[in-house]
Amino acid sequence: MNIQLTHVEKSFGEQLAINDIDFTIQSGEICCLLGPSGSGKTTLIRLMIGALAPDQGTVRVGETKMPSMSMLRQIGFMPQNDGLYEDLSAEANLEFFGSIYKLGKKALEARITEVLALVDLTQDRKKLVRNFSGGMKKRLSLAIAILHKPDVLFLDEPTVGIDPILRRQIWDQFQTIRAEGTTIIVSTHVMDEVLECDRAALIYNGRLIAYDTVQHLLDQTENGRVEELFLIAGEQEVGEHA
Ligand SMILES: Nc1ncnc2c1ncn2[C@@H]1O[C@H](COP(=O)(O)OP(=O)(O)OP(=O)(O)O)[C@@H](O)[C@H]1O
Ligand SMILES: [Mg+2]
Repeated sequence: MNIQLTHVEKSFGEQLAINDIDFTIQSGEICCLLGPSGSGKTTLIRLMIGALAPDQGTVRVGETKMPSMSMLRQIGFMPQNDGLYEDLSAEANLEFFGSIYKLGKKALEARITEVLALVDLTQDRKKLVRNFSGGMKKRLSLAIAILHKPDVLFLDEPTVGIDPILRRQIWDQFQTIRAEGTTIIVSTHVMDEVLECDRAALIYNGRLIAYDTVQHLLDQTENGRVEELFLIAGEQEVGEHA
């Protein structure tokens, strides 16, 4: 399913957090959102999943205009700050979210076993989340996001605090999920992860300053590093105001 943003704007009070963003994320691709802290990545994701309504413009996931309750089953979301229940076990958290998606009991149990294995938490199934490490919480949060096999998966900085080996394994999972036809939108700061993506959207001060294939974007830099893209953007911005 593709995601189409048409002149989307969102303000918080006086602050224009998303400024006239207009682009389409292609079905079946991995698109990364890149931008400095506070640039609007999380806000953009919240608009795309329908957790926020835009002030101006429209967001469509497939044919459906967001926000839309009917899209809940098609969308998976891994928030930047996990929304886990600390006093429940990993399994109970998964059962809770599974009940929202109305998966049958038997199918749900089988799927829980599957996703826990995917994120390497099989041994921790009965443990209380309160006693999880940061990385374990991230992994459980990912398991929840993919529990109902969504068509579109949103991941807000999914591998922060995760060690390189597990990060590799998680990205292998993303690639597998993508190969099954799922569209993935991921915000990240990690260069290695950018290289895993098909296309990147550069967000700067709430604006989309570039949207292209990762290869094309990196070709514009001298040393092939994403940071350079923002230096270029910063210079252009200074130029515009001069
Ligand atoms: N609920 C809110 N109320 C008021 N302001 C908000 C709210 N959510 C976000 N903002 C503001 O909107 C801007 C964009 O925030 P956002 O969280 O989208 O940035 P981000 O790119 O995800 O940053 P980070 O990389 O630190 O996660 C920030 O200036 C932030 O203060
Ligand atoms: Mg954020």
